[in-house]
Amino acid sequence: MSAPNKSYDPVEVETLKPEEIERMRDEALAAFAAADSLDALHEAKVAHTGPASPLALANREIGALPPHAKAEAGKRVGQARGAVNKGLAARQTELEAERDARVLVEEAVDVTLPYDRVPAGARHPLTTMMERVADVFVAMGYEVAEGPEAEAEWFNFDALNFLPDHPARQMQDTFFVQGPKGTEESGSGVVLRTHTSPVQARALLDRELPVYIVCPGRVFRTDELDATHTPVFHQIELLAVDEGLTMADLKGTLDHMVQALFGEDMKTRLRPNYFPFTEPSAEMDMLCYVCKGESVGNPDRPCRTCSSEGWIELGGCGMVNPRVLTACGVDPEKYSGFAFGFGIERMLMFRHNVEDMRDMVEGDVRFTRPFGMEI
Ligand code: DAH
Repeated sequence: MSAPNKSYDPVEVETLKPEEIERMRDEALAAFAAADSLDALHEAKVAHTGPASPLALANREIGALPPHAKAEAGKRVGQARGAVNKGLAARQTELEAERDARVLVEEAVDVTLPYDRVPAGARHPLTTMMERVADVFVAMGYEVAEGPEAEAEWFNFDALNFLPDHPARQMQDTFFVQGPKGTEESGSGVVLRTHTSPVQARALLDRELPVYIVCPGRVFRTDELDATHTPVFHQIELLAVDEGLTMADLKGTLDHMVQALFGEDMKTRLRPNYFPFTEPSAEMDMLCYVCKGESVGNPDRPCRTCSSEGWIELGGCGMVNPRVLTACGVDPEKYSGFAFGFGIERMLMFRHNVEDMRDMVEGDVRFTRPFGMEI
């Protein structure tokens, strides 16, 4: 009798028997066929073709066979693995095609559906109006300046040459956040600014000369809300301080503004007035942009926009009072300046025939929509 063959292990050889290899192959193919998704197929792939799969383990055992059995077993395992890989690829193709078909149905987009049923929001016409006016000055090199809405009484009144007994300082006109000057320990009150003019003083104190600024902003007065008044409204303020500025510069600037906003053939006129912070001061009117003055004394051609006056009152203006320059540390011997300010609500009212101011503050889109949805 010959000695037992040590490298011949009947247990390992068992896994290489033709029936065993066929079973492994068939199990793999059945698992692929049963996989109903690409994820499930991936799991079956790992189980039946991965390094720990029965066929991979069987393949590893070929090395342990006696030489004469190796070729036979190698061929069997190789064929089985080939069949398994082919089956896997075929099922993969099938499942991918199914997924693509499903995605096409499930993720179909009807490009004919309206995309904007929810209307886009838009800025309020007051905001766009303020920007339109400010842009006219930015184009001329002015900078946009800002100041706080809760303002020191000093900036709102004192720096602007409002004397202590000026009626505007009274509680009836001004919202005081902190007691009026003198009644508080600090000696100075805080108000909700009653105009944008305090930004003039802030700009002169903050900036290097020359100063050219435009300041749109919200202002507050103790008015009841009605068709022509609102306690919160908007103004735009302009200040230019430089060497040699004259009233002619002010007039030219005003004319340019109304021409840029209302058309080439527009102009302004000045009527004497009084403001504490300008000297001389004037009320500025612009030519009625609708009738261009032709309705005056002409009953056949009445004008609703200017009530047939020919002119529309815009706001106040003047040459910066030297006392304001001095209060802000500017030498009035060397520098002069001009300023003006007007209400945006009023401009929106006459420019668009808005008759009731309450429409502007209620935030109803039926009011804002006709102005266009400028973003
Ligand atoms: N601040 C003034 C007001 O609210 C308007 C005004 C008048 C502004 C004359 C100015 C100005 O800059 O020079 O009634």
